[in-house]
Amino acid sequence: MMIIRSAEFVKSSVSVKDCPEPTLPEYAFFGRSNVGKSSLINMITGHSKLAKTSGTPGKTQLINHFLINGQWYLADLPGFGFAKVSLSIRSKWEGMIKSYLLKRTNLVCCFLLIDLRHKPLKNDLEFMAWFASHQIPFYLVFTKADKLSQYQGVLALKEYNKELSKQWEPVPPGVISSCKTQLGKDILLKLIEEWNSSFVVK
Ligand code: GTP
Ligand code: MG
Repeated sequence: MMIIRSAEFVKSSVSVKDCPEPTLPEYAFFGRSNVGKSSLINMITGHSKLAKTSGTPGKTQLINHFLINGQWYLADLPGFGFAKVSLSIRSKWEGMIKSYLLKRTNLVCCFLLIDLRHKPLKNDLEFMAWFASHQIPFYLVFTKADKLSQYQGVLALKEYNKELSKQWEPVPPGVISSCKTQLGKDILLKLIEEWNSSFVVK
């Protein structure tokens, strides 16, 4: 299992042009506001204060890069679907995120986070279709599993995938996670380790 020896904040960027040199493999964390993107970054790195988390949605507003083991990047993205942010700011964020996802040449995979307790939401489904139409690899992470029993969690995932299967064959891959119990950490680190080993600079 990959050991996290170092995890450091690199910079916050307003656009893809500002981001660090795209020479190392990169993984982005994306999803609705408050779904747990920043918490998941802290969970998988084992650095509880690396990414700023908050009970108030809309905490992360820029593209935040973290360098792990001096070898790969995690990018924490602003969330979408946060109603309290004005429409003009929301569309600015969406433009920034989409342009980052389309142009970031070292992006290996975008993790799309979904609250395990929720039914498929229009926004999430649209983003999945958008990822697929642009050939951007994505992987689902079902967060906050600790808020359900194990049985309920498995059932929720089954229901979710049943809905997805109306549009997807096969359904997109995914993993259940919790930043409270560290569920999903090993799987995610193993995936990243595997993908890192086949990364080539474009
Ligand atoms: P934005 O930056 O606003 O888009 O939010 P975010 O997706 O980065 O969410 P963040 O990590 O800040 O977490 C939001 C809230 O959910 C915080 O109060 C976290 O403590 C809580 N949270 C995140 N992950 C989990 C989890 O796995 N289990 C539980 N119980 N709470 C969680
Ligand atoms: Mg955040």
